[in-house]
Amino acid sequence: MITNSKPYILSIAILILLFSVYNYIVYNTEGYVAVEKLSPVAVEGQQLFQSNRCWSCHQLYGLGGYLGPDLTNVYSEKNKGPLYIKAFLNSGVKSMPQFNFSEQEKLALVEYLKQVDETGIYPNYNAKIEATGWVKIKYRNEE
Ligand code: HEC
Repeated sequence: MITNSKPYILSIAILILLFSVYNYIVYNTEGYVAVEKLSPVAVEGQQLFQSNRCWSCHQLYGLGGYLGPDLTNVYSEKNKGPLYIKAFLNSGVKSMPQFNFSEQEKLALVEYLKQVDETGIYPNYNAKIEATGWVKIKYRNEE
């Protein structure tokens, strides 16, 4: 029978303290990169990306349909970029339909792909798991 509950309260207090210290360290060390939010224009682009079913043929970070290529880094890949993306939206190709987007809609889609591109590289063969358990990812601006 428990006659004195003080030791238990002390143990729980110590665990809570350790938990707080642990979380403080985890979220304040350099490895932690907060996910940036998309700008309003990019959100518009994201909605167009979804409502026009770009996903059914394209992937971002390897997820999506596989008829067309992955678009994670189409914005910054060599010889590609905003004009290249717009050209595909204007004319379509082989199995990609031609979309009749307004200039504003095309800009929004390009902005969305730009901000997706800024989040990292796919496939990222340079990701390393460190001893602490962090996955060290190589970002675009570290090239
Ligand atoms: C029915 C399938 C399909 C849909 C839907 C589709 N695409 Fe494509 N897309 C393709 C295919 C296939 C290619 C590759 C064509 C080629 O290279 O000859 C392509 C190529 C592209 C490229 C060039 C990629 C590169 O790396 O060269 C971009 C950018 C692109 N699509 C954007 C979009 C966007 C944005 C949407 C939605 C508004 C969309 N696509 C919808 C099939 C599709």
